[in-house]
Amino acid sequence: MQVRRVPGTALANQTNSDIIYTPPVGLALLRQKLANWEFYLHEQQDLDSLIRMAVGHYQFETIHPFTNGNGRTGRVLNSLYLTQENLLTLPILYLSRYIINNKADYYRFLLGVTRYRDWEYWLYYLIQGVAETALWTTAKIAAIRALHNMTIDHVKKPRLKFIAESWWI
Ligand SMILES: Nc1ncnc2c1ncn2[C@@H]1O[C@H](COP(=O)(O)OP(=O)(O)OP(=O)(O)O)[C@@H](O)[C@H]1O
Ligand SMILES: [Mg+2]
Repeated sequence: MQVRRVPGTALANQTNSDIIYTPPVGLALLRQKLANWEFYLHEQQDLDSLIRMAVGHYQFETIHPFTNGNGRTGRVLNSLYLTQENLLTLPILYLSRYIINNKADYYRFLLGVTRYRDWEYWLYYLIQGVAETALWTTAKIAAIRALHNMTIDHVKKPRLKFIAESWWI
């Protein structure tokens, strides 16, 4: 998908269609803001990676470079960024689960930064999401492993009795 070239993209309230945020317009301006975003993510090394991910996600969504798909792209970028920063070995932290489950807060805190420079709520929201998702994912991995082992045990059990019983079928 190409970066937006024409005006007309705006974020509206889903219930009454009121425009709540209009992202920047014009290819040159979008390219300049994307360059700034990229520079921030790579160069602002004095800040913790989680803070950079949260700020970078806000920046990306607010620049809103595409006509559609900005949310999905931004969420994929979060996992890829944590992998690049060596906080994950694989992009398996499904942070989107938390964002989708807490969507009203997500929208509210994004807008809070734009309207009131309310960074604290936004940062806390996303970092809390990382913590919750990390615990959830760890439990999920443990459950998958347990199921895997149970299945192996089950398959290894002698099945002579079963064969004998089904002989007449
Ligand atoms: N006030 C806001 N300021 C900046 N970005 C916002 C604001 N409200 C919502 N967004 C972002 O815009 C995204 C929706 O934009 P878009 O429709 O382009 O993405 P999508 O991937 O198609 O949708 P979705 O995120 O619902 O899957 C939201 O997911 C959110 O990241
Ligand atoms: Mg959309």
